Amino acid sequence: MDLIYKKEGRIAYFTLNRPEKHNTMTPKMMQQFQEAMEDFRDDSDVWVGIITGAGNRAFCAGADVKSWLPFVKETKDKPWRMPNTPLKGMDIWKPLIAAVNGYALGGGGELAIACDIRIAADNATFGWPEVGLGIIPRLGGTQRLPKLIPMGKAMEIMLMGKRIDANEAYCLGLVNHVVSNDKLLSTAEEWAEEICKMAPLAVQAVKQCMVRGMSISLEEGLRLENTLGLPLYDSEDYIEGSTAFREKRRPNFKGR
Ligand code: COA
Repeated sequence: MDLIYKKEGRIAYFTLNRPEKHNTMTPKMMQQFQEAMEDFRDDSDVWVGIITGAGNRAFCAGADVKSWLPFVKETKDKPWRMPNTPLKGMDIWKPLIAAVNGYALGGGGELAIACDIRIAADNATFGWPEVGLGIIPRLGGTQRLPKLIPMGKAMEIMLMGKRIDANEAYCLGLVNHVVSNDKLLSTAEEWAEEICKMAPLAVQAVKQCMVRGMSISLEEGLRLENTLGLPLYDSEDYIEGSTAFREKRRPNFKGR
């Protein structure tokens, strides 16, 4: 399998699995990624996803130049043949954490920034080399990077195909936390477990408000908060959360 998908407790794991090729993206991998993401989206028992790469050298070194780029060229007039993923075309409102274990280049960098939180190993390297190949980052990179870091820095990195290391990425706010490679997955799991202590429907509504809020007016965003936030007052988890608060105990949320 080019992508390993497993679920343990409330967490779903997506591992890009071509370590000998730095986990580069192939059409087969992206198709498997779409199918795994659909399952994650539709399974109410899993609440947070962690995305990482197999091995300890690469998260993902981007599109496989030998298979993905020709596939893109061949299907450029047939957009329906492109797998839909959270990078482009699929809404996932459950939180996604990228555990970035090495190179995150091109589409790999785009995958990392399509996630909501990035934990980086100290050997992580981010960069978008596409302009050096005569193409552009087209899996959301040109849109998401300037929303995460200052425009001037985003331009510097993308226009020159510059690479930055984990520390610079941390200083820019591109990654949330840097740890040694051997602690990467356990740290990502700790962060995922923290999110799983919260009410999942509320967590998903917050993500949806924040992500959609980036591309709509404040007025529309305030309306969206009402649309998504007010129904939560009728949820079982709201009753549980407020009862637990009064009883000074931990809430036991069900996602209902
Ligand atoms: N597409 C296809 N194959 C790739 C690849 C890519 N994007 N990135 C790495 N590989 C392959 C290499 O060809 C090599 O395969 P081989 O063993 O059959 O020769 C294997 O992965 C290991 O890569 P290698 O270059 O030998 O490792 P390295 O440690 O010296 O360098 C990188 C690692 C990531 C810096 C380098 O491979 C690289 O720059 N890759 C291209 C990244 C890129 O441009 N991505 C965006 C594409 S749009």
